[in-house]
Amino acid sequence: MKIMLIVGARPNFMKAAPLIAAIREHSRANGQKSLQAILVHTGQHYGEAMSGSFFTDLDLPNPDVHLEVGSASHAVQTAEIMRKFEEVLLAEKPDALIVVGDVNSTVACALVAAKISFDSNGTRPLIAHVEAGLRSFDRGMPEEINRIVTDHLSDLLFVTEESGIQNLIHEGIPNEKIHFAGNTMIDSLLTFKAKADGSVILDKLELRSGPAKNSAARYALLTLHRPSNVDHRETFLNIFDGLQELSTSCPVIFPAHPRTQQRIIEFGLAEFFQLASAPQSTNGSGTCAGANKIRMIDPLGYLDFMCMMKNAALVVTDSGGIQEETTCLGVPCVTVRENTERPVTVSCGTNVIAGTKAEGIRKAIREQVSRPRGSSAPEKWDGQAGTRIIEVIVVELQKKAQESDVASSSPLLTRR
Ligand code: UD1
Repeated sequence: MKIMLIVGARPNFMKAAPLIAAIREHSRANGQKSLQAILVHTGQHYGEAMSGSFFTDLDLPNPDVHLEVGSASHAVQTAEIMRKFEEVLLAEKPDALIVVGDVNSTVACALVAAKISFDSNGTRPLIAHVEAGLRSFDRGMPEEINRIVTDHLSDLLFVTEESGIQNLIHEGIPNEKIHFAGNTMIDSLLTFKAKADGSVILDKLELRSGPAKNSAARYALLTLHRPSNVDHRETFLNIFDGLQELSTSCPVIFPAHPRTQQRIIEFGLAEFFQLASAPQSTNGSGTCAGANKIRMIDPLGYLDFMCMMKNAALVVTDSGGIQEETTCLGVPCVTVRENTERPVTVSCGTNVIAGTKAEGIRKAIREQVSRPRGSSAPEKWDGQAGTRIIEVIVVELQKKAQESDVASSSPLLTRR
């Protein structure tokens, strides 16, 4: 059985790695040829910082196929992935296709697979969506469109939290397609947590509080990349206003996504940041120039970023996955968005939704800095999601194979 997996953008890699590991494990246990994984990278994200380093950190094999689509508008990027992926699908004819998350690569490949036909019977791969059912109920988010379309094209929907089941049932998805499997992003977190302790990023950024190997200074970690937050100068400035108080109380480290870095330059906001390369110089009054400014650095690799999250006093973010990772690590998180598609991170985890206005952000930060660390892990966030998903896919493929055996032995069914 051939299972094709799609990765394209940074948040896909840690969701796909446990699935590849589970396929390898299944083959080890059931004979080397029982399952074959084909890894396709669309190239939505590229370069060492946004892609290459994740393959190394997560022990991912090199992609079998690389579509090298790169950056473009949503329509062009999605269309280009579809155009190139159709050829790959026709050449490989996999039995199943796994797409993860909610990025453009996810919806583009699911759409191609849903309409493909390998033979005169209209045979196509079984489509499995990992991280199905999440809804922000905000269709202004490109990811929300990607989630809805992908879910409605998929044959198997693997959800990470209870809300996902309710959302899918509410949209009329049949119960038997929905599987509460857990969270493969958390599988990766649990697998690599100990390895992340070996990262030297805290030393590099001079964030040690003392000579002890595991001593960390008090700092906050910030990420912002959502177009709705960083593509408009006024909104962006308002968010920074909300962060000023925090940046006077502790260093705020900001590994900035390339799109965010571009906007900062375009909007002339660089003066608000202390850039990693700029040495701190004392001014006439003896204070360090830039001492209270947010420290912007380039995007970090998976292990370095996990080390930074684990040791942070607080994480401020507009990412989806980071809300889940901080929940699992028990680190207080402030989400700079009006909503979340991951409500379990608020009800069970450490997350607070702050909105995008300065006052709301300030208030949420004040509340969260005094919050004790620690939380309870959501149901099935136990490191086994990848294994559960592959087990379900194998069973479904076996059922499909039996059905087609029956059909080919019955002339009537074959004619139909
Ligand atoms: C994409 C996902 C988003 C996810 C995010 C994580 C969609 C619709 N969005 O958003 O859900 O949270 O990835 O990072 O799929 N760029 C680079 N190098 C790269 C990739 C991008 O410099 O490797 C720059 C390009 O200028 C590009 C811009 O960043 O135009 C945005 O990249 P894109 O992949 O379009 O969207 P993201 O904002 O990364």
